[in-house]
Amino acid sequence: MLRTHTCGELTKTQLNQEVTLCGWVQKIRNKGFIVWIDLRDRFGITQLVFDEQRTSKEVFQKSLGLGREYVIQIKGKVLERESKNSNLLTGEIEIMVEKLDVISKSETPPFTIETETDGGEELRMKYRYLDIRRDPIRENLIFRHKVTLEIRNFLSNANFIDVETPCLIKSTPEGARDFVVPSRINPGQFYALPQSPQTFKQLLIIGGIDRYFQIVKCFRDEDLRADRQPEFTQIDCEMAFITQDDILIQFEEMIKHLLKKIKGIEINSFPRLTYSESMSRFGSDKPDIRFGMELTYLDDVLKNKGFDVFDKSESIIGISIPEASSYTRKEIDSLIEWVKKPQIGSKGLIWIKYLSDGSFKSSIDKFFTDDDFKKTVEKTKSKAGDLILIMAGAKKSIQSQMGMLRLEMGERLGLRNPKLYAPLWIIDFPLLQWNEDDKRYYAMHHPFTSPKTEDIDLLDTDPSSVRANAHDLILNGNEIGGGSIRIHDSKLQKKLFSLLGFSEKKYIEQFGFLIDAFKYGAPPHGGIAIGLDRLVAILGGSETIRDFIAFPKNNSARDVMIDAPSKLETDQLKELNLKSLNK
Ligand code: AMO
Repeated sequence: MLRTHTCGELTKTQLNQEVTLCGWVQKIRNKGFIVWIDLRDRFGITQLVFDEQRTSKEVFQKSLGLGREYVIQIKGKVLERESKNSNLLTGEIEIMVEKLDVISKSETPPFTIETETDGGEELRMKYRYLDIRRDPIRENLIFRHKVTLEIRNFLSNANFIDVETPCLIKSTPEGARDFVVPSRINPGQFYALPQSPQTFKQLLIIGGIDRYFQIVKCFRDEDLRADRQPEFTQIDCEMAFITQDDILIQFEEMIKHLLKKIKGIEINSFPRLTYSESMSRFGSDKPDIRFGMELTYLDDVLKNKGFDVFDKSESIIGISIPEASSYTRKEIDSLIEWVKKPQIGSKGLIWIKYLSDGSFKSSIDKFFTDDDFKKTVEKTKSKAGDLILIMAGAKKSIQSQMGMLRLEMGERLGLRNPKLYAPLWIIDFPLLQWNEDDKRYYAMHHPFTSPKTEDIDLLDTDPSSVRANAHDLILNGNEIGGGSIRIHDSKLQKKLFSLLGFSEKKYIEQFGFLIDAFKYGAPPHGGIAIGLDRLVAILGGSETIRDFIAFPKNNSARDVMIDAPSKLETDQLKELNLKSLNK
């Protein structure tokens, strides 16, 4: 061993012992006659001392040549520190160095390797290995390891077995875009990287595996956001001979277990909301229920009072913002600008201030009486001092616009407390979504999702009203998982493909293997996939998954460290039958 201890473990217990440590030079303080060095490794920091009087001349001289991030090995004696540092595990001791070896020199790093660094995002990505030396990133990776280990143990104890599925599979037109890989041995043909192991896990169930799980990389060529990466990790699970209730109970237990084990938090409430209830109350299918501000329907109070905008609208929805009646005109105008942004798409916002003295002030004073406002206050359960924000228009649009405003206000008012955890299920999603541009239905989850048994007949008469046996797992306003009971009958599966606009030839070509498998004894089955990156980030108190991935891609889907993607040599292209690209 090159060391007797790590940099994070020495305390007064080892006083006067001779130790050997290895690590990186984090900080150098040179007083001329005495040099202090903070030596860092994964486990912590230990203070080294080089003293002109007590250290040999040769070693003292050597210490003057050290620079930041040099890798060194030292031998020395553990001494009690004069000025102790209670923030450090090793803060009671220091090492009087007797022997120093430089293992590896370092150039001056492009940014400071400290918790608060001067390096911008792009620079830190380019030198990610240096970024990983910083406490916050290293701690995030260790945290991810702990969560993953806990999940593996939990699922294994619950009788799930870990089975690997292939990464070179077949491209399918559903879902996001595929990343594709050319085949050298089969010229002109391509594999696709899996967007998820969906069909394979179903085939494993048909293969009798019963309870499967895999912590697995998935690949989707889609636009990036803080909670999206082109390659990400799923905790992918599937179970046989179960109902939806069994899946919900099993994974509710897993989330509760993780919160208890990892965060020490006991969760007592795990609500199940139907999609339509969630849209109606929160304007979102991934509601953050850590705060109220629920949507209130004001049609019966504010319609037909001579205000055209309201009278001509399908629906009028308000939310009450606590203690915000003191908002200035400027603050309200900036909110109005915010809702008009293309991402939100609202036409505008009406406001009513319910002032602390009980009086009202609003942008629609001339159309409404105090009595109307009192009724509005009652309906929205507002208190004096609150601000009521109202939108009117087509119900579905303003529900989701109000949902986005609600979330924004929750954020601005600091109501999205990262220390609180509020998981829930959304169930009874619509099975299909009509797309006006393509004039066809799309599966809201994926084409293998089973309709609710009682809605199957509606597939022929009113497909858009069919509810799916699907479930999303929501945590603090983020979709962290999704799944469903699957179709296990080839006739029903074919019908679904037809509804989704597949010709028989096409679905046989794409999914014939699955339809075939259903002919050989398919058990009822279902499952879920949870986004590990999202789950870990949220448990770690953040919504940015990049910070919890060792080597993430940037917003242009590039790895700036290895400079990928990149061009191929002409010879390689030729071999892959892609020669035309370099013409
Ligand atoms: P779905 O597409 O809902 O379901 O994905 C499951 C979960 O994976 C996470 N996720 C992502 N995380 C980071 N970056 C991305 N680009 C990304 N895309 C998805 C989300 C999401 O909830 N096969 C089905 C599961 C099933 O039916 O069992 C599936 O993949 O947290």
